[in-house]
Amino acid sequence: MPTLYFATHNSNKVRELQQIFASHHLAHFQLKSLADLNDLQEIEETGTTFQANALLKAEHLYQRHQVEGFADDSGLEVEALGGAPGIYSARYSGKYLPNGKADDKANIAKLLEALAGLPPEKRKARFVTVIALIWQGKAYFFEGTVEGHLIEEPKGENGFGYDPIFIPFGETKTFAQMDKDKKNSLSHRAKAVQKLLAFLQTVS
Ligand code: IMP
Repeated sequence: MPTLYFATHNSNKVRELQQIFASHHLAHFQLKSLADLNDLQEIEETGTTFQANALLKAEHLYQRHQVEGFADDSGLEVEALGGAPGIYSARYSGKYLPNGKADDKANIAKLLEALAGLPPEKRKARFVTVIALIWQGKAYFFEGTVEGHLIEEPKGENGFGYDPIFIPFGETKTFAQMDKDKKNSLSHRAKAVQKLLAFLQTVS
């Protein structure tokens, strides 16, 4: 059974992908993560693009453990801010929770301040996910995006990150007001994952 590694420490992401693999005729792939390699090292995201950051995490698997797999990198690009916060989305406010995770509320507050006074048509934004896969020694990239606009006050309790202020085009609710299945039918991450799955189905 081929084993693919997912270069992440986020056990929620791993579980979600394991379920997706099982339901997409990819059950013959065993999906493992850094935890299975007893690798607790935080991989520093020193790249300047989503592609570069995803690739350096995927390459870590090979360089450190001689195994192949993939990694993802995501963020929010705001048109009026020239694409910021982009790859810095988690670190935008420079504030962190005691457990070291991103302070989503502080990030949202900083973004809303930067956009204060802008009308809806100037509040366009898109979420981006890039997955880098190392497969048989070659790198492949899969990108997913979702466009929408940012509202002025957070709404909804679900999800994470910038979900409470992002409404996808054609929708009336923020990502944080949607249930998981609805967000997954629209999200940048889900679209990138679908492309990865399609690739793996053609090569396996
Ligand atoms: P990551 O690369 O998936 O860890 O995402 C980096 C950062 O981008 C997160 O900490 C969030 O601030 C933001 N982000 C990425 N995906 C989402 C999403 O689906 N909803 C809200 N925020 C997101």
